[in-house]
Amino acid sequence: MNTTLSEVKIINLPKIEDPRGNLSFIEEEKHIPFKIERTYWIYDVPGGQVRGGHAFKNQLEFIVALSGSFDVVIDDGVNKQIYSLNRSYYGLYIPAGLWRQMQNFSTNSLAMVLSSTEFSEADYIREYPDFLNYKGL
Ligand code: TYD
Repeated sequence: MNTTLSEVKIINLPKIEDPRGNLSFIEEEKHIPFKIERTYWIYDVPGGQVRGGHAFKNQLEFIVALSGSFDVVIDDGVNKQIYSLNRSYYGLYIPAGLWRQMQNFSTNSLAMVLSSTEFSEADYIREYPDFLNYKGL
């Protein structure tokens, strides 16, 4: 799996501005490039904690900071890039085959993750040396 950082991208979502409050939405295969099989969210993260240090073999993801802010560190085994997510009208598309970690969560932040697959432990690569091996590095 030779996915590189260049395939990761911020995707802007529709934003319907209204004096009563703004509205954004996501339609599968239209605003994001996959069908949504699962949605999960990460919340109540204590200060300084790090989540999601792992890679997926098949799962595609789209991460939105619905509230607050956090950083997503993406690593293709050679290079790393940090994306700061802090608005609910855009998100980060992450293809399979990349190591990703979430950190620097603000108080009361809410991370929504849309996934292209059902939960499968077998899809995880949890050890960094195994990830480098998987990438042939
Ligand atoms: P995990 O993805 O390993 O999060 P992190 O890398 O931040 O620790 O998920 C934590 C636990 O939750 C793990 O035991 C698997 C379980 N889990 C599910 O059962 N279903 C899910 O959809 C997700 C994302 C996790």
